[in-house]
Parts: sequence; C-alpha cells; structure tokens
Amino acid sequence: MGKKIQASVPAKVILFGEHFVVYGKQALATAINRRLTVEVTSKEKKGYHVKIENIPTFGLEMDLEPGKEEGKGKALLYKDYDHATEAIAYVREATRYLEEKYGMDEEGVEMEIKSQIPLSAGLGSSAATCVATIAALKEYFDVGGDLEGIREDAHSVELAVQGAASPVDTAISTYGGYVSVEKGEVKRLRLPELNLIVGCVGSIPLSMGMDTKKVSEMGLKTKKIVADVKWRKDMFKSIFDYIFDAAEEITAQAIRAIEDEDFVKLGALMNINHGLLDAIGVVPKRLSELVKMSQASGALGAKVTGAGGLDEMGGVGSVLVLPGECGDWIKAAMEIADALVMDVKTGGEGLKVTVFD
Ligand code: MEV
Repeated sequence: MGKKIQASVPAKVILFGEHFVVYGKQALATAINRRLTVEVTSKEKKGYHVKIENIPTFGLEMDLEPGKEEGKGKALLYKDYDHATEAIAYVREATRYLEEKYGMDEEGVEMEIKSQIPLSAGLGSSAATCVATIAALKEYFDVGGDLEGIREDAHSVELAVQGAASPVDTAISTYGGYVSVEKGEVKRLRLPELNLIVGCVGSIPLSMGMDTKKVSEMGLKTKKIVADVKWRKDMFKSIFDYIFDAAEEITAQAIRAIEDEDFVKLGALMNINHGLLDAIGVVPKRLSELVKMSQASGALGAKVTGAGGLDEMGGVGSVLVLPGECGDWIKAAMEIADALVMDVKTGGEGLKVTVFD
C-alpha cells in the first residue's frame, strides 16, 4: 500500500459538569494545546504492530492480536512495562471494532502513537487515542473519514472499553474548540480563549516508580470511578438528584460567564463545581490539597477536572485553575507539592489528518 497517514488530536479539559454528564446533565469541555498523534504505515507481516511513546517518560511496543485478552507485548524503552497491556485496551478495541464493522483484516499495519498527554490525568488521553487511531485507520483503509462518523466510532470504542462514558471526551478530541454535551447531544460552541493552569498529580508517565500492577489498573481508572459514583448515586438517590440539578445550573451559568468574560463569576462557579465533585466522592486528598492551595494563593477558581481520582490509586488526576493575577504563585506552590504544572490555552484545533503518499 505504501502510504503513510498521520492523525493528530488535542487533549481536553472538562471545564464544568464531569460525572454529572454521564447522567444527561450539561457539561462544557474544551481542547487544550497538548496533542497526541497516530501514524499508520504498512508492514509485511499480517496484524498490527503498535509502538507507543508517551513523551518523555515511557515507551511500549507490542503486537496486537485483536479478540484475544492480551497482546504479546514487550516494553522496550525506559522501563519494564510488560504488565501495562490494559493501558492500550483502547487501541486493541479500536482495531477489533473496525475489523468487525468494516471487515478490514487483510493487512499488516504499523502504528506509532506519540503523546504529550499524561495518562490517567483526566486530560482525555483515552479519547484522544480512540479518535486518532480510528481516524488514521479509517483513512488508511479508505472506509470514510467524515468527522461525525469518526466521533461516533471512537465513542463506541470508548464505551466498549469503559462501560459508561459520555460523548464529551471523544467530541473534543474530534472537533477541538469548545463542546457542550447534554442528554448525550453534542453541540459545538464558539467561546473566547481562556488561559488556565493544569496541575497533574502522579500521572502514570510521571510516577513509574510505582509497582506495575498498579500502573496497569490505572489504565481503566475512569471506569472504576464512574462505577463508584453510580453506586453512591443509587444509595443516596434523593440527595444526589439535588446535587446533579445544581451541577447542571452551574454549567449553564458558566457558559454565560465565559461569553461575558466575567472571570470572577466563572472562578466562583469553578469553586462551587469542585464542592459538588467532592460531595459525590471523586476528590482524593492530593487533588483536594492542590485546589485549596490554589484558592488560598489567590486563584479566581479551582476544581478537579475529568474523572477525578481515588486515594487508593495514589490520588492520580488533575486540577484546573483560573489563575487571575496569581499564576506564578500558584504554579510555584503546585511544583512544591510535586505536581506536574502546565500552562494551557483553551479552544485548540481538533482532529487533523494528513496523508503522505
Ligand atoms: C471523564 O473525562 C469524564 C467523566 O464525566 C466520564 C465521561 O464523561 O464519560 C467522568
């Protein structure tokens, strides 16, 4: 076949409404300026050979055998990553899904994934992997490349791996910009750019010191947290109904605050949203400390973003901060607390597919 396809997608942050969106409430998410690329070329031997490089800390190389529980993997770079095959559950499911849907299993395919998105940090690395893998393979096999179809296929893959998943993450990786999701319906919004700070705690590539079993479990951290929230919601249904309604109102008011560039109001809404995430049990100690520290250092607003975390999984996850005038203080405080700190801009470009002949 001889051609080379490259698909590049952005990371995401959920600004408002994570978790609540799984139950149909409105969420607002945006692309940020960190990207993941998947490059697809042909190889002689049938099957998929996958290389993953999560810049700069780990690399993984393996042959994928769709349909089987474990690929035959071998960690080649930096660290022993033999037990981390769950972390590529999304790639394996994408190849299985596409083969089943489009019957494309005759080729030998070489896939190289390079990512600037820390894993399990709530920044959409799973969705980015799904969207870029699906887009690159669909282009390679010439089975249709319209954005809507790619988004839907990628969401099906995410659902198959994760159980419950809203379309938020895959929508942002596909479209970029800002996206609102409500009752499963995706709307693209035009809103002004924001400058935010993201603080990540102990995401996988940054904490390879931990034992490999824990690392492989984290590949599916979101699935566990979403299931835990469901358990609590079922147990305290009447109370959670109020919390979920409040979360929805927060998202609606936040969209208006961004439109009006009313950052004081926006920050206050982030703080309230964080309180609700704490109430539903997705704020581990370390992320809570980062949020409190940011607020105490003068941030206009701070909250957990994405799925949140669990203390028993080391509190891995991210917080999102609207810094106001105090960005330098906040970043210094976060670094002292051993977080990975990133300045991010919202509203980045969505999926970009390049064909090299
Ligand atoms: C994960 O980034 C966001 C959650 O709301 C799950 C989802 O929307 O699928 C926790």
